Parts: sequence; structure tokens; C-alpha cells
Amino acid sequence: MLDGIATSSLPAVRGKAGPVLRVTLVLEPATAGLLNVARLAMPDTDVRVHAGTLASFVANAAMLRQTDVLIAQLDPENPREFEEFERLARDNGSRMPVIAAVRDLTVAITRRVLRSDAVDVLSIPFTPDELHQAVETGRHRRSVAAAEGPVRAGRIVTFLGALGGMGTTAIATQAGIIWAESKSVCLIDLDVQFGNAALYLDLKPQLNVSDLIEAGDRLDAELLRSVAEVHASGLNVIACPADMVPLDALTPDLVNKLLDVATETFDIVMVDLPGAWLGWSLSALERSDAICLITGLSVPGMHQARRQLEVIDANGLGDRVRVILNRVIYTLFGKIDLAEPEAVLGRKINHAVANDYATVSAAIDQGRLLSAVKVKSRVERDLRNMVTELASQLELPVARG
Ligand SMILES: Nc1ncnc2c1ncn2[C@@H]1O[C@H](COP(=O)(O)OP(=O)(O)OP(=O)(O)O)[C@@H](O)[C@H]1O
Ligand SMILES: [Mg+2]
Repeated sequence: MLDGIATSSLPAVRGKAGPVLRVTLVLEPATAGLLNVARLAMPDTDVRVHAGTLASFVANAAMLRQTDVLIAQLDPENPREFEEFERLARDNGSRMPVIAAVRDLTVAITRRVLRSDAVDVLSIPFTPDELHQAVETGRHRRSVAAAEGPVRAGRIVTFLGALGGMGTTAIATQAGIIWAESKSVCLIDLDVQFGNAALYLDLKPQLNVSDLIEAGDRLDAELLRSVAEVHASGLNVIACPADMVPLDALTPDLVNKLLDVATETFDIVMVDLPGAWLGWSLSALERSDAICLITGLSVPGMHQARRQLEVIDANGLGDRVRVILNRVIYTLFGKIDLAEPEAVLGRKINHAVANDYATVSAAIDQGRLLSAVKVKSRVERDLRNMVTELASQLELPVARG
């Protein structure tokens, strides 16, 4: 058998107990070869054997997604494998409870495994009964977590550019870093074709929005957390798809589900929206507690901002809009005159952000906060004020989780 390629599976025998639990056994080929899969049948359980290493399982995003309970063979003498196992158990929590299977299991190894987030440990060789018990422990862990229900009611703040290149992603990423100092924050890049939020944070995520789209109804908090890449600041980022996907790969239902799960998981959910209006844009905007419209002083910027505001107003969402004027030039005395742009837009400009190309472009090149590039920049001060005001307006509830 070839490492990581051979899989065999046993379809579930439907009982009465509810949805099918998908169990994957990741075993060394020699162990897998000894297993009589036919004897492992359990009601409402789909058992699949993957003959390969834990690393080959983790690298297989589709298999990872389709696993509800993982039973992984572990060589306790291999520290890298053990670390990988611990990380997997920790990151997946109750979304995918993890059980270790170990040859020559000793009390010391059992203790070590159970000190991790693993829910159980099996000794190889195991009997079908022992396997069933371990699977039931995993099933139980999932149902307890599901019964506990949502733990947070986070707020949604969308960032929408009046026009391309206004600085929407630069502002969203830098504000996200700042906000993550005090809250659990997740930035979701829904600019599905041209998004660069992860790039501006110097992150190279393995998973992205596509994995959430594919998960469909199975999308939950644990999957969201496992797809999120965490920036050094603590900011969670869901990157846009690595490959070009059609704009209608997202649907209003999917966007709603994604935002449901995200607000159950994080205090603040920031969304980087594409400038174009899509079928699902309105779903995201309707769910938003604040809509940050980013514009600039240029004639096209002002013109498009007015058009965007008209559409937002026509949908009855005008009162959630915060207009952010980016790249403003302050006078020597630190003043700006907003009367004219406010007259053109016919509404108040809520936040002005200083023009500082050198600092902003260096910060996004390095994926760091502005102050890591230049201390006490005006642009960072403006963004901090913006975050403080947004936060106080949104009046966050106290989170349980
Ligand atoms: N306050 C600022 N001062 C100076 N330059 C800025 C500022 N904000 C953004 N920029 C620059 O503007 C450029 C565009 O920024 P960004 O990619 O964030 O815009 P965007 O609106 O997200 O664009 P897109 O339409 O491609 O998504 C970047 O080079 C960035 O460095
Ligand atoms: Mg952008």
C-alpha cells in the first residue's frame, strides 16, 4: 500500500440516532493491512481507513473536511508526529474530536496523550468493541458542544471601497491589527477574486474561503477557526480563494451562514467586500452593524461614493454607514477642512485618515502594524480613533466564550 493514498471505507448502516458520523482511521499501512474493515460496522457511522501518516491526512484538505472524528495512529517516540497530533487535537476541538491509537501503549504514554486535547486513546491492536467505545466518546464530545450552542454575538463591520484602490484593504487590515489588541477579531476577505488581505498581513494560509464554500451546511465554528490564519497580533484572517473563483461561488445563503458562524465565534467580524455589487453583497451589508465606506478626495472617488451611498440608502441601510475619507492631507497645524467633501457627498464624513504612502506601503509590505514602521504616525492615530469610535458605537456584549 502506498503511503497516504490507500483508503478503504465502510458505508454507514442507518440507525435511528441521527446524522451519520464520519470517522477516519489514519493508520500506518502495516496496521491498516491487519484491519478487517467489515468488522468495524457501527450504526450511523461511516468508517474510513486511510493508510498513511498523520501529515498526509492533514495535507488532504478534502479528507480533513469530511472527518467528524479522527482516530490517528501515533508513534510516541516521534516528537514531530506527537506535536502535529497535539496541534490537530487543539485546533479542531469539538468539531473533530481526535483519538490516538498507539502500539505498545503504556500508562505513561496514555497520560501524555490525555494531557493533550485528545478525547481518548486506543491500544493497537484493538477489538471492534474498543473502537466503538472510542468512537462513542468522540460522538458524545461533538453532541455536547453542539448542545452548548453559540457562545458569542459578535458584531459585523464591513469595509467597502467607493472605487478600487481607495485603500480599503490597507485600512481593514491595519484596523484589524489594532482591534485585535482588545477583542477577538476575524477579518474575512470576501473580495473573492482580487482580495489581498492575507498578503497585506504577510500570511500564507493553507486554507481559505473556498474551503468554507465547499463545506456548505457543515460550516461551523471549529471549521472556521481551523481555516483562519492567525496574525502575530492575534487577528484571525480568512483569506480569499487562492485560485480565481466565479463571483457567484458565494450565495446569499452561504454568506449568511458564514456570518452566523463567525459572529458566534468572534467579537468582531470584519469583512473586506469587493467594490462591485454582487448578488450576495446586500446579504453582507444587511447583516452589518457598521458599513465603512472608504473613499478619497478625487473626483471619481467622490462620484462613486455618492453612487454607493444612493444604493445603500435605497436599501434602507444608510444609518449604518460610516464614511471614511482616506489619504487626507493635513495642514501644518494638523487641520483639515471637510466642509467641501461633506457638501459633495451630502453627508458627514465620520473619519479622516492621513495620507502617508511611505508608512502605509511599508507596513503592508511587511504585514505589520504601522507603528512597527514608524512610531506615532498620524495615519495610525487616525485609525486608532476610528477603531475606538466604532467599538464604542457597537456596544459589544460581554462574550461567554
Ligand atoms: N492612508 C494612506 N496613505 C497613503 N497610501 C495609502 C493609504 N491607504 C492606502 N494606501 C495605498 O493605496 C494603495 C491601495 O491600497 P489598498 O490595496 O488597500 O486599496 P483597495 O481599495 O483595497 O484596492 P483594491 O480595489 O485593489 O481592493 C496601496 O498602495 C496602499 O499603500
Ligand atoms: Mg482591496
